[in-house]
Amino acid sequence: MTVGLTTRFLAADEAATTAAARCLSSGGLVAFPTETVYGLGADATDAAAIARLYQAKGRPAFNPLIAHVSDLTGAQRIASFDAQATRLAQAFWPGPLTLVLPKAAGCAVADLATAGLDTIAVRVPAHPVAREILRAFGGPVVAPSANLSGHVSPTTAAHVQSDLEGRIDMIVDAGAVQVGVESTIVGCFGEPMLLRPGGVPRAEIERVLERALLQPRSDTEAQTAQPLAPGMLASHYAPRTKVRLNADRLAPGEALLAFGAGAIPGSGTASAVMNLSACGDLTEAAANLFGYLRALDAKGAEAIAVMPIPHEGLGEAINDRLRRAAVRQD
Ligand code: TXA
Ligand code: MG
Repeated sequence: MTVGLTTRFLAADEAATTAAARCLSSGGLVAFPTETVYGLGADATDAAAIARLYQAKGRPAFNPLIAHVSDLTGAQRIASFDAQATRLAQAFWPGPLTLVLPKAAGCAVADLATAGLDTIAVRVPAHPVAREILRAFGGPVVAPSANLSGHVSPTTAAHVQSDLEGRIDMIVDAGAVQVGVESTIVGCFGEPMLLRPGGVPRAEIERVLERALLQPRSDTEAQTAQPLAPGMLASHYAPRTKVRLNADRLAPGEALLAFGAGAIPGSGTASAVMNLSACGDLTEAAANLFGYLRALDAKGAEAIAVMPIPHEGLGEAINDRLRRAAVRQD
């Protein structure tokens, strides 16, 4: 086991960038901020480092990883782009969009990172610290969200620390992230398909493509042997406390995850209340989502009741993560 490592905790600066790149080069595991959530990075060409990464996260090895690169040229070394994929990369990179593409001939990324698939997920993150680390390292870095498998994704370095201290080599801290939900994943190995809603709203992608994205398959299908986005297991984002969606009233002993200015019956006696966005702003709600789920999970409530969230814009990704949080792990 990797448990028992000394995890170095560094504030983001030039020295931290150099240390992070050096650590990755020697097969180490480095948690760093991206604009969506904190990622746990390993050298994408180093199968041994990737094996340690799966072990540190307690992640099932059939779940393939996203390769992070610093620019489109770096992405073209590992993945093959058709016209639509190029268009999406030009419109949204750097930014919270991941493209799943056919692997390029001579792709140096280890098979373990792609779980033996002939496609690869790539993204160019926008966070300045992520970009500096990728530039300094100079190659693709696989980075799943930096949480234990099954926990909600980390939006601060403290979340990373509480899940992975002693299991990874380094955490680079740059405060809270901007977006708060993971990248949108679009498959471009045929008709473009939405594999995971995320930080770029579906409508923005459809505007650039001038066509509708194919629908993601259902969770039931996503749990079969050859799922399209295997990480989209139904319970991927579950907190320990039961989560109850679309609450229009609160039961005794429940905590409330609110949205908007309205109140629901029973909220006066809630064991805890957090409001994703009192003014009903979905961008603010996305940024608060995982942190508030963690905070309410720690209250020991009977359940976390969640008020309805509108489905437009980032609401699609927020509702997707909430549905997964509502699926019990047991
Ligand atoms: O915002 C994000 O994307 C964050 C930050 C750290 O970049 N990363 C992230 O990684 O969310 P992870 O490992 O938690 O989720 C990656 C998702 C999984 O659902 C996985 O199944 C899917 O990408 N994926 C990776 N490679 C794939 C492939 N070749 N085909 C289909 N799905 C793939
Ligand atoms: Mg994750």
